[in-house]
Amino acid sequence: MQKEFFVNTLNVDDDFTDFFLVKDISVKIGSNHKKYLDLTLSDRTGDINGKKWDVSDEEEMNLSRIKAGDYVKVHAQVNEWNNTRQLRVLRIRKGQKEDKLDLSEFIKAAPEDPEEMYEFLVKKAESIGDEGLRKMALKFLTDEKSRLLYYPAAMKNHHAEYAGLLWHMKRMLMLGERACEVYDILDRDWIVCGVILHDMEKLNEIQSNELGISPGYTFEGQLLGHITQGIKTVELMAREIGLDAEKTVMLEHMIESHHYEPDFGSPKKPMFAEAEMLHYLDMVDSKLFDYEEALAGVAPGCFSDRVRTLDGRMLYKPTFSKIK
Ligand SMILES: [Fe+2]
Ligand SMILES: [Fe+2]
Repeated sequence: MQKEFFVNTLNVDDDFTDFFLVKDISVKIGSNHKKYLDLTLSDRTGDINGKKWDVSDEEEMNLSRIKAGDYVKVHAQVNEWNNTRQLRVLRIRKGQKEDKLDLSEFIKAAPEDPEEMYEFLVKKAESIGDEGLRKMALKFLTDEKSRLLYYPAAMKNHHAEYAGLLWHMKRMLMLGERACEVYDILDRDWIVCGVILHDMEKLNEIQSNELGISPGYTFEGQLLGHITQGIKTVELMAREIGLDAEKTVMLEHMIESHHYEPDFGSPKKPMFAEAEMLHYLDMVDSKLFDYEEALAGVAPGCFSDRVRTLDGRMLYKPTFSKIK
């Protein structure tokens, strides 16, 4: 069955029935003490939040059978709340085999072939001059090849898509190499290795199926997060490879400080130039990704919905925008 309605082209007041993929789903209790269903629906063009109000106990039983990663058919209306489109779900049921869905309509994927992105990263890792750093980067890429080919970089935010982690690493690397040309105090080996390893433990922080859809955090990811997990893993890898103590600590510091703020998970701020730059490469790539996402499908000359990850800003799409 072909999809007719896609997330990024839904307009306020549309009333429609179509299939979506469930990203997350839960029954909550509203301020009026009534239960409601809160869910995120997605397709290859994006995500949208939906609510189904006044859920009865019996309905809750049925709804509990729908899980993240399931396909559902919904009848809904598009409302606007706080300058953001939201679905008022009127009916919802789980998708069935007979629906014969074309899965490519639902899966959001990085725009480049995962194998090619992977090869790009391996070539860059091979070009690292410092033997220890080269071994670290290559060990990670080799050991984790199979998961890297599909893993997203997040559950919901930036690069929450099939092979999103590779895409994030590739563009950070491209930008990082240019930054090394402009700021010649930067050491390319550390930038390349830092980019490749900075989010390595996203693989164990978030769960993902082979379509790059994440149903949630892992136990360790929930309690520790990819920064702490990354430091632990670098320690183990360094011991295996025989990386010297100073380099090990410096790599750990790059991972530790890449989110910059304690509130975002970094206990320390960067203390050497390559670590400083790593943070900004990460920021630039995640923010511009958010622009691409939020403005896809928006008509030139118009504004996006509010973007939570960009402080709730609405973004403008100029008439010359290259975003489709
Ligand atoms: Fe990170
Ligand atoms: Fe990152």
